[in-house]
Amino acid sequence: MDGRDLVRGVWEIGTARGRRAWRAAWRRRRADAEGLPLRGAERARVPGLLTGTEPRPGGGLLRFARSELVVRVTVGGAVFWGWDGAEPTPSYAVVGNGPDPDPRAVLEPDTGGGWRVVSERVTVAVSRHGAVEVRTPGGTVLRRESPPRWWEPVEPGRGGARWQVRGEVPADARFFGLGGRAAGARLRDGSYRLWNTDPKGGFGPGDDPLYLTMPVHWVVADAGTHLMFHDNTWDGRVVLREGEEGAGSGADRPGTTELRAEGGPLRCWVLVGTPARVAQGWSGLTGPAAVPPQWALGYQHARWGFGSEAEVRRVVAGYASRGLPLAAVHLDIDHYDGHRVFTVDRERFPDLPGLAAELAADGVRLVSIVDPAVKAGDPLHSAGLAVGERGAFVRDARGREVRGEVWPGECAYPDFTDPAVREWWGGLYEERLAQGFAGFWHDMNEPVAFAAFGDATLPRSARHVLEGAGGDHRAAHNVYALGMARAGWEGLLRLRPAERPFLFSRSGWAGMQRYGGSWSGDVESSWEGMRASLALVLGLGLCGVPYSGPDVGGFGGSPSPELFLRWFELGAFLPLFRTHAAIWAGRREPWEFGPQVEEAARAVLAERERLRPYFVTLAHLARRTGAPYVRPLWWGAPEDRRLRDCEDAFLLGDALLVAPVLECGVDRRAVRLPRGRWYDTATGAAHEGPGQVLLDAPLGRTPVLARAGSVLPVRGEDGAVTLEVWAPARGRTGGGVVVRDPGPGFEAAEVERYAVRWAGETVVVEDEAGEPVTGVVVRGL
Ligand code: GLC
Repeated sequence: MDGRDLVRGVWEIGTARGRRAWRAAWRRRRADAEGLPLRGAERARVPGLLTGTEPRPGGGLLRFARSELVVRVTVGGAVFWGWDGAEPTPSYAVVGNGPDPDPRAVLEPDTGGGWRVVSERVTVAVSRHGAVEVRTPGGTVLRRESPPRWWEPVEPGRGGARWQVRGEVPADARFFGLGGRAAGARLRDGSYRLWNTDPKGGFGPGDDPLYLTMPVHWVVADAGTHLMFHDNTWDGRVVLREGEEGAGSGADRPGTTELRAEGGPLRCWVLVGTPARVAQGWSGLTGPAAVPPQWALGYQHARWGFGSEAEVRRVVAGYASRGLPLAAVHLDIDHYDGHRVFTVDRERFPDLPGLAAELAADGVRLVSIVDPAVKAGDPLHSAGLAVGERGAFVRDARGREVRGEVWPGECAYPDFTDPAVREWWGGLYEERLAQGFAGFWHDMNEPVAFAAFGDATLPRSARHVLEGAGGDHRAAHNVYALGMARAGWEGLLRLRPAERPFLFSRSGWAGMQRYGGSWSGDVESSWEGMRASLALVLGLGLCGVPYSGPDVGGFGGSPSPELFLRWFELGAFLPLFRTHAAIWAGRREPWEFGPQVEEAARAVLAERERLRPYFVTLAHLARRTGAPYVRPLWWGAPEDRRLRDCEDAFLLGDALLVAPVLECGVDRRAVRLPRGRWYDTATGAAHEGPGQVLLDAPLGRTPVLARAGSVLPVRGEDGAVTLEVWAPARGRTGGGVVVRDPGPGFEAAEVERYAVRWAGETVVVEDEAGEPVTGVVVRGL
């Protein structure tokens, strides 16, 4: 128990929930004392010396005195290696059986008694002690991993091995990723835990871990960019330390990574190449991102505590009467009957289907929160008990149902690692669809079990089906929400096959994008919180989850008008643009902050609407290419070191650079530019990168720059999509891609390609057939 836990615990003890949370914490401690084997003495192990090799498709098997290593290069260029016989599948992250081995990759002797697998894009060299090096075809080392180290209980039957691997990366390298982290986007020296966690009561920049962690990190260095994925769902820790060039005696000190896992397989994937290529490889490995329905790319308003249909109507009417576009309203747990999932408080929400229909007529959708925990003794609980042979809920080592305290009181937890449970759960969304809900917001799925001290989740000893393999919460915890998302997604596809589901979730894991997006969770209402929420969106995007966004305004507090507006401005350029707040927090309707904020918010919303076709394009491209909508500035130029360190701006697709104001009292800010010409979209002024410019950023205006030569689909006043083209620099050409929404379902989306060039004194835009495109707005002339 740390000090913070203690303070919270004492504060909570006065309430009934607080007392139950104390009991729950003790119960969890006892369950683990009984249900987890004592490890006793441990023995350390390293691979020992190489004793033999055997070529295999895509690489080979390398035998060591005390382990075995499989190295495999796959057809898309992704590299896999696994120790102790670990294979790529089964895996929660990797789709299908994983990519096929590349038949052209060959295993051959390396210098110093080691061996290497040589392929077109990458060489993997293994020393005779089991160190693994990833090199470019030219021989530049991108990463070097020391031989792993395992710790195993001396006595059999006391659990599997814990392990640790250390890596070295170039001295100039920067780290990114690890899922949604408040620290970052650039991950500085520190220890990052791999355990999905509700930070309790909100988070700020110093809080780690958060809801959605992933053992996926990017390394961006002069020598090249790579992504490393340790495919292991267990609790673990990543310690990162940036290197230093010319440290001490003038020699470089490399950057280091250290990964420790409490168990599970030691297997990893490395993707090498340009950022775009790495992202494409990651999406190939873990599956293409779900494309949200068109409406989910519009502005959405959520609140914990609408409290009644009348209040929902009042807020929606507030937007409508002021001419502020609104795409969806999100109902939180207060619309449930007694906070119980898949129920409705009929007194306060007597006719949700009616409300939904009324709102839909004005183009506003209803989105429902869905919490995983089921109140003990509820009809839903009884229904769950009848699922399969053992019921739907997580049990302890002795077969008793595991209970935890959540919003409705004492709850049981569906085991989403059981296919039969996922099927049952997916069917429950029928009730939600009948209530008129069009989208789903998964929450509390780390999963949370309130506890007065310690980890507010299920006991580590709790048993899970794990797709039939069986195991405990140590292996299942991090993929609990991923399973819930899969259940919801597949259920919705069965129930409503002609529509793409809209689903986003607080927790998740590698591969989450297959089912939907995520959001910041309970970010604190502060300038630091806003910054952290941007870091989180960038990190998730790099880890393959392209659709996410913050609680605009922060979750728990009352932002000043200035902070609210700046956050609103930022949110307008992120995929999920949603205001949300806790039941005890201040208002989030833009007009509640005074006429100046209302006016500015109107312009912000108009711009979002104008850019909507561009967001649609980015959503489809994210699916096809793995490139997130929101990218760090180094995306197109990882060799520019200053861009790697730039955390206060981002690229929105290929065309735009957004430089939000993240500080109080600022009306001008410096903006770092990647190479090429960039136009200030507010003034049309051209700036040449690489470099830095100072731009005006009065309240209500976020500096946005357009890349010369780019093509943006925008929505005109009449609703039609037109192309906005930014003139290429003289003597240069440009171009872009547009994908229009093909409808609400899974209709194939066509990709339109446009080329831009100078013809004498005019800029012409041509389609793929070389035909000139008319009705284009050329800017930057
Ligand atoms: C959690 C969610 C938050 C939600 C609240 C009540 O704190 O993160 O978004 O409003 O639960 O359901």
